[in-house]
Amino acid sequence: MIRAVYPGSFDPVTFGHIDVIKRASRLVDELVVGVLHNKAKIPLFSVEERVKMLNEVFENLANVKVIPFEGLLVDFVKSVEAQMVIRGLRAITDFEYELQMAQTNHKLSPDIETVFLTTGLEYSYLSSTMVKEVAAFGGDITRFVPEAVACKIQGKMKIKGECKS
Ligand code: PNS
Repeated sequence: MIRAVYPGSFDPVTFGHIDVIKRASRLVDELVVGVLHNKAKIPLFSVEERVKMLNEVFENLANVKVIPFEGLLVDFVKSVEAQMVIRGLRAITDFEYELQMAQTNHKLSPDIETVFLTTGLEYSYLSSTMVKEVAAFGGDITRFVPEAVACKIQGKMKIKGECKS
């Protein structure tokens, strides 16, 4: 049984994350999406809200589980009995940080491997930070995140739109 963890902040989940999660879920028996609860940062969405949004997006993918975590990633990976970490690489700018993180995790826990998936070209520019910035200035974010997520962002930012929720 191959179980992998795809960790992240997902504040909010974007089409780029969704692409990586769908592709990673085809490579392993079970994919655990680990949602970081970082007490040092104030996110737009609480960890509970982020977990709920991800669960809604992936309700039809049977081998994807969404679980929040705090503390060290390697401890979380061990606690769910996974063997590897999956990360998406968008562009060369991601590489330095991702390499540092993978090597730190490898030092902390040599049995856990980090596997990188390159994100689809159509999502290589996309980040949660950009989505929030576009939304904050009233731009259309429906090409970056699912409609339900866009509505929740608008709700949080108190932006008037056509959302029912
Ligand atoms: O979506 P993000 O913010 O790029 O994800 C970063 C994440 C959650 C993978 C990273 O911050 C992390 O693993 N945090 C847990 C703390 C940890 O284990 N740090 C040591 C490795 S650098």
